[in-house]
Amino acid sequence: MHFVSILFISNFWLVSSKQVVISNVIPRLDVDGNFVNAHDGCLVKFDNTYFMYGTVYGECHQSTTICDGVCGYINNTFALYTSPDLVNWTLINNNIVPEVTKDNYYINYWMPNVGYNHRTKQYVMIYWSSRYGFKNSLVALAVASTPFGPFVNVQPLEMQGGKTISDTTNLFVDDDNTAYVRYNTRDEPLRHVVEKLSPDWMTTTGQFSIIFEKEDFPWYDGGGMFKQKGIYYTMLSFDCCFCQWGSDARVFSATEILGNWTYHGQLNYCADGRGPPEHVTDMTINPCSIDDPFGTNFTVPAQQFNVATLQISSEETLHMYYGERFRSSKDGLKAHDFQAWIPIKFIGTCLQPLLFLDNFTLNIDVELAT
Ligand SMILES: *[C@@H]1O[C@H](CO)[C@@H](O)[C@H](O)[C@H]1NC(C)=O
Ligand SMILES: *[C@@H]1O[C@H](CO)[C@@H](O)[C@H](O)[C@H]1NC(C)=O
Ligand SMILES: *[C@@H]1O[C@H](CO)[C@@H](O)[C@H](O)[C@H]1NC(C)=O
Ligand SMILES: *[C@@H]1O[C@H](CO)[C@@H](O)[C@H](O)[C@H]1NC(C)=O
Ligand SMILES: *[C@@H]1O[C@H](CO)[C@@H](O)[C@H](O)[C@H]1NC(C)=O
Repeated sequence: MHFVSILFISNFWLVSSKQVVISNVIPRLDVDGNFVNAHDGCLVKFDNTYFMYGTVYGECHQSTTICDGVCGYINNTFALYTSPDLVNWTLINNNIVPEVTKDNYYINYWMPNVGYNHRTKQYVMIYWSSRYGFKNSLVALAVASTPFGPFVNVQPLEMQGGKTISDTTNLFVDDDNTAYVRYNTRDEPLRHVVEKLSPDWMTTTGQFSIIFEKEDFPWYDGGGMFKQKGIYYTMLSFDCCFCQWGSDARVFSATEILGNWTYHGQLNYCADGRGPPEHVTDMTINPCSIDDPFGTNFTVPAQQFNVATLQISSEETLHMYYGERFRSSKDGLKAHDFQAWIPIKFIGTCLQPLLFLDNFTLNIDVELAT
């Protein structure tokens, strides 16, 4: 790692620019040398520290090319790791919502997303729980007074844009501190909805917009929402239940978040350069190789869960695809599966197709010890 000799004061911190290399092929270890086990969650920056919240998967073997209903399902907790530079990670807590251990032997927990509400000075987490998902329109909500938790459950959000939440939820916080939840619905037509929360984020306003709706398979899972130059983007993808081939990245955009959403384009083609088909019959099928689950994968062979928006320096806001590469670990343990972090590139307002990068370099501002 090279230090560049630029020193400046930013927000009262003494900051210097540092070049870091992010690898997608070398296991991400924490400062104690253990695998970072925080999956399908979010990567956010509070003050000058990066926070990774994610699901702790068991040290189990997923027996099939898609989810087996046990490995990665049972006994999940949520972990928090922090880093000053996106490379050096410290485990803070591997059970940051302690209440989940009361029932995680039969309730499934995934997708912790955390935001900071400047108005209430609260850190707010939404997450997916099988207590609500596939059953009703509730989304689990937990709060903490610091980003380090512990997060305590509060009354869940009752979404108005659908009767039954399907399998994905994301939190998006706009520049004006307004929060939105994106979710997909199990009630037909199957829809992706973005819904506005109240100023304290503790209830919904009932105002929502439909990003996309569809009657037949794939219904699409959801990745993240992000905003660039005043335009809102949502990334959706083929249903992929821990599938090993990954899923695509269909981007939708809107100039007003509760306005009309239009299809923008595909960012993650099959690894042979073809586009995936419009329809497949089931999520057991690899869309890039219909007859062979072990055939061609997607270019980025990951299930997308989020887009991290990180102000990495005074000059640069990084938008980064954030996915999970299921069945990718060398030792076959789900807890050790790789993530795929891929910077999203724009040329003007045009998004560039994703490439799988073994590694990439970022110039980030880091706080100096004073
Ligand atoms: C989950 O945890 C319970 C209680 O510790 C244990 O009895 C059970 O074997 C665990 N199940 C799995 C699948 O890890
Ligand atoms: C990693 O970060 C911790 C906490 O900020 C710091 O104490 C440690 O020196 C860092 N290690 C390396 C190798 O940068
Ligand atoms: C959204 O689309 C509908 C139907 O095409 C149109 O009537 C409406 O004016 C649009 N709304 C906005 C805010 O563009
Ligand atoms: C697709 O990804 C899986 C999981 O990482 C891997 O085992 C398999 O070899 C990949 N297939 C191809 C053709 O690259
Ligand atoms: C980054 O990846 C390239 C291409 O695979 C490789 O040549 C290079 O050694 C890697 N650099 C680091 C620091 O891992």
